[in-house]
Amino acid sequence: MSTSLALCSFPDQLGLATSLAEALNATPLKYLHHRFPDGESLFRFARASVPETVVLVTDLSAPDPKFLQLALLSATLRDLGCRHLLLVAPYLPYMRQDKVFTAGEGITARYFAQLLSRCADTLITVDPHLHRIHDLNEVYAIPAVSLAAAPLLAHWIQREVPRPLLIGPDEESEQWVKAVAQRAGAPWQVLTKRRHGDYRVEVSTPDWQHWQGHTPVLVDDIISSGHTMLEAALQLREQQAPAPVCIAVHPVFSGGGSDRLAATAARLVSCNSIPHPTNAIDLTPLLAESLRPLINAFPTT
Ligand code: R5P
Repeated sequence: MSTSLALCSFPDQLGLATSLAEALNATPLKYLHHRFPDGESLFRFARASVPETVVLVTDLSAPDPKFLQLALLSATLRDLGCRHLLLVAPYLPYMRQDKVFTAGEGITARYFAQLLSRCADTLITVDPHLHRIHDLNEVYAIPAVSLAAAPLLAHWIQREVPRPLLIGPDEESEQWVKAVAQRAGAPWQVLTKRRHGDYRVEVSTPDWQHWQGHTPVLVDDIISSGHTMLEAALQLREQQAPAPVCIAVHPVFSGGGSDRLAATAARLVSCNSIPHPTNAIDLTPLLAESLRPLINAFPTT
């Protein structure tokens, strides 16, 4: 690995960035984020130039304000000499609106992909919410690598949960639940969900009668408001099932509200794609393994 490799991160991703820098033997790049009184940002690096290859680790969980900071940071790195910018965005936002649902709307998944493609040369992300878009490369103008956290989730479940029954809270979760269950050698089922609004969902009744003696494990890619996971957990309790273990790859927890879910679940855990107190599954090895060949593909300075 080249010693001229540098790694730069958003302040809120310092934990993941530090372990990734160690795993890749990369030099952390320090910068000052100055905010002018009117709210504009200026980034000033501790050095006048940066290495040609830079890994930029971001948390895009509140994408609207953070995207502008990312765009400005990326442009600054380019001006300081970065030629190969590898963007690590473990949580990729704006995957929800992947078609026009109601006449008069746009397809923001596509627009965001076009904008983000201008900020880097390669995108590395984990379990993006692919639904009607089957592959990120359909909408991203730069190479986009989607990594799967399933092996890490399966490993955690095997280690921590006796006799697990994996349950996806909705049809869209099937791809993740099935992959994790197959790796963990555990049975699985998927519930159905009707969404009545951003904060109102209805989840079907799980089949618990056949699974007495198991530990229910709810698995989803994203906990956003938390209502989907909470409704599924409450349905299980109504069936006299034990309190479930709840696992999400991306703990968005918009509005912060993990308290009710934490009180209903036996355990609430997540990957560190977004910094959150529930982080228990470290993505560093997965990200480092995929970054190494990408970094080595560039000539070193
Ligand atoms: C959608 O299908 C996703 O997989 C999640 O189920 C969804 O984002 C969860 O949203 P919320 O936490 O707001 O119910």
